[in-house]
Amino acid sequence: MDGMPAPDLHPSLVPLAFLLGSWRGEGVGGYPTMADFGYGEETTFWHEGKPVLHYRQRTWRLDDLTPSHAEAGYWRPQPDGSLEVVLAHPTGIAEIYVGTIEGTRVSLATDVVVRTSSAKEVTSLTRLYGLVEGNLMYAVDMAAVGQRLQPHLSATLKRVADPTGHGLASQAGPGRADGEVGHYAPPNT
Ligand code: HEM
Repeated sequence: MDGMPAPDLHPSLVPLAFLLGSWRGEGVGGYPTMADFGYGEETTFWHEGKPVLHYRQRTWRLDDLTPSHAEAGYWRPQPDGSLEVVLAHPTGIAEIYVGTIEGTRVSLATDVVVRTSSAKEVTSLTRLYGLVEGNLMYAVDMAAVGQRLQPHLSATLKRVADPTGHGLASQAGPGRADGEVGHYAPPNT
């Protein structure tokens, strides 16, 4: 991507422009069926001039920095102010969310969750994202493995790179949530 002119942001993405770029930080997770845990995360939103925001997230364990959950997908704002999000997980699960954008707050609820025969039973999720004092904060609630909808994750991420969100994502190994950003390369290399 180096040397290529940045595409103009599609007008439909203006309401989500506050998400563009790479974010790093830490989160906490839990569920009634497991012990609470902390994790590191890097999330990148970028665009390629089309009316869709590309999204990639990866997380790592805080104790030994080995990879934990990851997900990827597409955020598609609609003319009526609603938002469609399609996400895929390496755990055999795919989600379709519908939601709303209100200022710098995004609220999502699953319309559909589908899973492979080997995946854990996940039936619905909600997600709340918001910009708070320049940080990206989110909370994810989940209904799974026979449990009602309740918190699984929350995190606070700081912007670390590429505020234009132009097609770049870190491919570095897991790092710390202290602004160390590592080597940047296109996400498909
Ligand atoms: C930041 C993202 C996430 C992190 C760091 C994370 C981390 C974890 C960890 C550490 C566990 C317990 C150990 C394990 O079973 O691997 C777990 C369990 C689980 N997670 Fe997540 N997770 C994330 C996102 C998600 C999402 C998006 C879903 C659903 C689509 C999900 C569904 C589950 C389920 C179903 C379990 C197992 C519950 C059980 O069987 O007791 N997780 N997660």
